[in-house]
Amino acid sequence: MKVNKAVFPAAGLGTRFLPITKAIPKEMLPLVDKPLIQYGVEECIESGIHDIIIVTGRGKTAIEDHFDRSIELETVLEEKGKYDLLRAIKKISNLTNFSYTRQKESLGLGHAILCARNLISGEPFAVVLGDDIIDSKVPVMKQMINVYKTYRYTVLAVQRVKREEVSRYGIIQGKEIDKGFYKVEDLIEKPEPDEAPSNLAIIGRYILTPRIFDFLNVAKPGKGGEIQITDAIKALLSKQPVYALEFEGNRYDCGNKLEFLKAQITFSLKNEDLREGLLKFIKELDLVRIYN
Ligand code: UTP
Repeated sequence: MKVNKAVFPAAGLGTRFLPITKAIPKEMLPLVDKPLIQYGVEECIESGIHDIIIVTGRGKTAIEDHFDRSIELETVLEEKGKYDLLRAIKKISNLTNFSYTRQKESLGLGHAILCARNLISGEPFAVVLGDDIIDSKVPVMKQMINVYKTYRYTVLAVQRVKREEVSRYGIIQGKEIDKGFYKVEDLIEKPEPDEAPSNLAIIGRYILTPRIFDFLNVAKPGKGGEIQITDAIKALLSKQPVYALEFEGNRYDCGNKLEFLKAQITFSLKNEDLREGLLKFIKELDLVRIYN
């Protein structure tokens, strides 16, 4: 069965980015001139997925407004003859099909995915964490769908991380069956470095089979008191194969301030209008003056 739908859990509290995330959803923080979540949506569209399901929560209505039409703004831009901007604005609301559901309480990523169950109707589906921005030649979701087409079971995106960072991720133990492609044997959520079976960390892209809901439905809170997707995938392992793909591309965890700044610089340097001015600014940075 084809992967037609992608779930974007966007109901987290974004505590690492407080105070800005008090009233503004983390997913709406700008990367150059687009909100973070739009990059993930465009990645899905380029990968052939056209049904986007966003799991929101309180204070997240800006996400719905962003992907909706803004008739008032369109009228003003038309009257002023700002046709380039008008086209850019209309393009966002015409991107694809959006559905929304709410997670009433931030009970964890696994619980947020469970909230989308009724909109999935027994199909395999993608999960995209909008704050994981991946700069790659081939969209990461497309790389994953390409292997899914052969294996037809759960595919996780993984990345090698430093040993001291494993405790921030779900970590897999796997058997490499092709270059950078693993059959998962075990998973552990946020292990201490000395108990981690590898340094292959699960990042914010998944293709899941609908069987996962059987396990999410009965999942108990795990690490951090949250319902963890990693625990449900571990339970799924006893019933179905699970695979992991080391994708090609550079990932920025934009829920983290330093990574967010690195992404801003990288994406700005890729933007023709900004490259020259930014490079000049960087070269001329007077660190002594900044520090004093
Ligand atoms: P994070 O671990 O980044 O949590 O969630 P967070 O709340 O967004 O941010 P911090 O860690 O407090 O700074 C990973 C993804 O899962 C979603 C988040 O919106 C993010 O996309 N999520 C997390 C939910 O939708 N609901 C939850 O209960 C928890």
